Amino acid sequence: MSLFAYDDLSLGDFKPRPRIESGETVLYRGWMFNVTAYQEFTDFICKRGGIPVTSAADYALCHHLKQWYSACTDLTPETVFLEKGSNYLEQISTLNWDAYFIKDFVKSNTDAQGSIAHTPEQAVNIINRIEQYRGELEGGVAVRRVEQFQPQSEQRYFVVNGAAYSPTSGVSLFYHFRQRESQDA
Ligand SMILES: Nc1ncnc2c1ncn2[C@@H]1O[C@H](COP(=O)(O)OP(=O)(O)OP(=O)(O)O)[C@@H](O)[C@H]1O
Ligand SMILES: [Mg+2]
Repeated sequence: MSLFAYDDLSLGDFKPRPRIESGETVLYRGWMFNVTAYQEFTDFICKRGGIPVTSAADYALCHHLKQWYSACTDLTPETVFLEKGSNYLEQISTLNWDAYFIKDFVKSNTDAQGSIAHTPEQAVNIINRIEQYRGELEGGVAVRRVEQFQPQSEQRYFVVNGAAYSPTSGVSLFYHFRQRESQDA
């Protein structure tokens, strides 16, 4: 295992200790990067001859809601994507939904107000709060239909070589996706 100073990376500096040897496979575990920083990070690894387990393209595909959404539209709340800096109020008003769940392409709003808005004006306010408190809107804005999820039902899966693992189940999701792929083929 190697350690590096996360903050150094934004200064163009990357010095893992011990250093990465040529041909080594590199799995990153740490704070989330935005997609630009992750690209820089993998560039550093490749320059040293390392091989990232997750390529920058795959990272962006899983990190940005706008990129993974089309893979599972039938399994996740309906979502409309707004370009950063566009006229949010106008676009959200045309949706005419009862409520709006607001995120950027990565994270929801975690201050006391939360991410659920009941009017387009409230939705814009949440977008502004995300930008203000986090320092940036990553990617753009995702406006999602509000759904009632079963409390305590959230589970995290980790995907390795195309197989999804959760704390309670093995590869069932893997087979599910494979079945859908073969049906689609
Ligand atoms: N469309 C929605 N309608 C109602 N509740 C939602 C919706 N989307 C998310 N939530 C609730 O808000 C919580 C946080 O949302 P979400 O997990 O999407 O954002 P995040 O935790 O900020 O990002 P991530 O999990 O991608 O790191 C969820 O665990 C879920 O309980
Ligand atoms: Mg979450």
